[in-house]
Amino acid sequence: MHASSTLKAAETAKHLREQGVDVIDLTVGEPDFDTPEFIKQFAIEGLEHGLTKYTPSAGMKSFQQAIAEFYANRFGASFPASQVAAACGGKQALFNAACTILNPGDQLLIPKPYWVTFPEIGTFCRAENVFIETEQTDFILTADQVRNAITAKTKLLIINSPNNPTGRVIPAEEMRKIVEACAENGVYVLTDECYLFFVYSPAEAFTSAVLPEELRKFVCVAGSFSKMYAMTGWRIGYTIANDRWTRAMVKLQSHSATHPTSFVQYACAKAMCEPEKSIDAVNSMLNEYQRRKNWFVPALNEIEGFRCGVPEGAFYAFVDVRELLGGEMKTSADLADCLLNDAHVVVTDGAGFGADGYLRFSYATSMENLHGALDRIKNLLAGRKSSTVGSHD
Ligand SMILES: Cc1ncc(COP(=O)(O)O)c(C=O)c1O
Repeated sequence: MHASSTLKAAETAKHLREQGVDVIDLTVGEPDFDTPEFIKQFAIEGLEHGLTKYTPSAGMKSFQQAIAEFYANRFGASFPASQVAAACGGKQALFNAACTILNPGDQLLIPKPYWVTFPEIGTFCRAENVFIETEQTDFILTADQVRNAITAKTKLLIINSPNNPTGRVIPAEEMRKIVEACAENGVYVLTDECYLFFVYSPAEAFTSAVLPEELRKFVCVAGSFSKMYAMTGWRIGYTIANDRWTRAMVKLQSHSATHPTSFVQYACAKAMCEPEKSIDAVNSMLNEYQRRKNWFVPALNEIEGFRCGVPEGAFYAFVDVRELLGGEMKTSADLADCLLNDAHVVVTDGAGFGADGYLRFSYATSMENLHGALDRIKNLLAGRKSSTVGSHD
């Protein structure tokens, strides 16, 4: 396995900052908001109630119940609470799901660009990673692409929508067709829905938890509170899957993390039982992301050589920089290095997402940082251009 390239970029930024360099970090994969106060208070309440001991490996009953009810009210989903299992973040939810389905040699379908962890999960399970190109459909995975990729060895497809790094959202109808294509071939689907609550209208959030039972039995939803409630450090997420898959995941987890922290489960369960407060908290973050996106993405597109589609969800801008490559700047990694060394702006190279030629910019940071970063990048690129022109004279 390889270390996470996104975490590596963030560490480089931190290292430079410690040396006194004025760095603007646009690699951040976490909300720049604090966890809402009412959730912190619920966690304190949990501690005061003495929730400091083991819980069942699947999580507290109240946690499972709260998720089932929240999904029923918010999305019209209908599944028993016993099909929910708590996990230590979306990452562990994904690992639990993949490790209980994949055997060595099975094929794992991964649409490109992918979140950096997906191929590593396949490698960990000794599966064969099979990538699906989606650039020709504007980074929206289609059922046809999935059908064409399925072979007798295909066991699992991982989908992430809203997507990190592209910000694209697969429309509900296409999602259903994708799951149908998989189900017809006995292929399971793991839907990473960690950005489910961060979708910009007119795009619409879609959770596979609403699919009819005959399709849902092939699906595992991996959910997370990290982005929803800005609780990345609390480490809490969950899976929603059929009884058998859930039992296997709980068994696996009972021998690893056992369960996520007891009073954190309590805080999330209580928060989900206050859907209005929860949605208000989410919406105030969503509105702020939207405000930043509305300024940042057009501003990125004004830079000569940058091309960026409009994100429909999450908080990343994925910029095609291939026009700027050539000569001494061969790859997007070279450009990312140049931005880091000469402009002190840290961004994530697309190669880690299987998309060389692209850079990922996170706008989970202040408007001031976004303005500052773009000024620096514009100055740097303008300087490089005039020096290139000069050398031709
Ligand atoms: C696409 C995607 N899935 C899952 C996660 C995992 O989040 P966590 O483990 O914090 O819940 C992240 C975090 O950045 C992500 O971007």
